[in-house]
Order: sequence, then C-alpha cells, then structure tokens
Amino acid sequence: MSFLKKQRKFIEYKMDKNNKTVIILGSSRSDGNTRKVVDRVISYNNEIDLIDLGNYDISYFDYEYKNQGDDFQKIAKKLLTYDQIIFATPVYWFSMSAPLKTFFDRFSDLLHLHKEMGRKLRGKTMGMISSSSGNNINDYFRSPFIESAKYLGMNYIGDMHSWLIDDKIPDEVDQIIKKFASKLGKAEKIVTIN
Ligand SMILES: Cc1cc2nc3c(=O)[nH]c(=O)nc-3n(C[C@H](O)[C@H](O)[C@H](O)COP(=O)(O)O)c2cc1C
Repeated sequence: MSFLKKQRKFIEYKMDKNNKTVIILGSSRSDGNTRKVVDRVISYNNEIDLIDLGNYDISYFDYEYKNQGDDFQKIAKKLLTYDQIIFATPVYWFSMSAPLKTFFDRFSDLLHLHKEMGRKLRGKTMGMISSSSGNNINDYFRSPFIESAKYLGMNYIGDMHSWLIDDKIPDEVDQIIKKFASKLGKAEKIVTIN
C-alpha cells in the first residue's frame, strides 16, 4: 500500500471516530439474543447509544397520519442528532423483525408529512446487525437496508451477522462483533427519550 493510500485510510478512520452512533434495537424481546449481541458491540465501543423500540409505542404507517401522537416523532427527532444509525434485528421468517419493519415504514412520515426531517437523514450513515439461529444470512436479507439507505440518501456502512450457541456468543461471532464495533463512532450513553 502506498504512503498516500495509508494516509487516506488514517484520515477516514479519524473522521469516522467523530461520528455519533446509535443502535436501534427492534426485537420482540428486550433481553433476547439480539440484545446480547448489541450489548457486546457496546462493550467494545461504549460511546454508542442504544434505543430499544420495545420501550416505545410505535404504530403501523397510517395513510391519514392519525397516529402522530405515538412515540415515532420523538424517536425520529432524537435520531437526527446522530451521524450513524445502526439497526439491530433478529431474523424472523427470513426478514427483519416486525417491530423494526413497523419503524421503517414510518420513515414514510418523514418523506411526506415532515419533509424537513426526512431531508436531514441525507448524508448520515446506516448499518445493520442481524441475529439468527446460525451463520445463514444472505443478500436478500440485507437488501431492504441497502436499498432504503440509498432511497433516503444515506450511506450504507455495512452489516454484521450473529448467532448464539447454547445462549452464548461463540468466539467466532465475538471476533465479528469486535471488528464491526471498531468501525463505529462516538456518542453519549444509553438514551432515554421522554
Ligand atoms: C418468529 C420467529 C421467526 C424466526 N425465523 C427465523 C429464520 O427465518 N431464520 C433463522 O435462522 N432463525 C429464525 N428464528 C430464530 C431467531 O432469529 C434467533 O433465535 C434470534 O437470535 C432471536 O433473537 P431475539 O432473541 O432478539 O428475538 C426465528 C425466531 C422467531 C421467534
């Protein structure tokens, strides 16, 4: 690798490290396998914030926007204070979880009803953490994240897949987590949105 390339790599790394990062956990249980993996990511990079969608009331997308009183708006406002948004989801029936999909659908609010907020997503980065019963993820699973990032004008920084064996994170997965965590930038602590 030439010196120039090495130097560029260093600069990119430094820039990444200035980013504020939040993980959005979308599992049907707050203390499940995906949470264990997310906690491990945070243990390797404790400047990452966490928002657990299980603590909030977020309803399905509504064409008439009658659901504006739920928690989506406040989470969206908080999200806009970050540079990197990482979605963490279990694999349920070969797809992202229903809680996370419900949250994703509500991004449509930001494209139609709160356009100024939608525009602010542009240029931010998106990543994804998945958790299933084995080393069995494929590009179909990743595709909604990659395409949604493109549609929203966000940069997709990549993803990592995890699985547990006997309720424990195996060494192989721990290495994957460590590598992924090192890519992520700085933020505050666990976030509570009131
Ligand atoms: C409703 C449901 C559907 C699932 N579908 C799949 C699947 O399609 N592929 C897979 O490998 N594991 C599947 N699993 C297993 C989960 O992905 C796995 O146990 C995951 O780590 C659970 O994370 P959680 O504890 O955060 O829910 C499924 C589990 C549930 C409850």
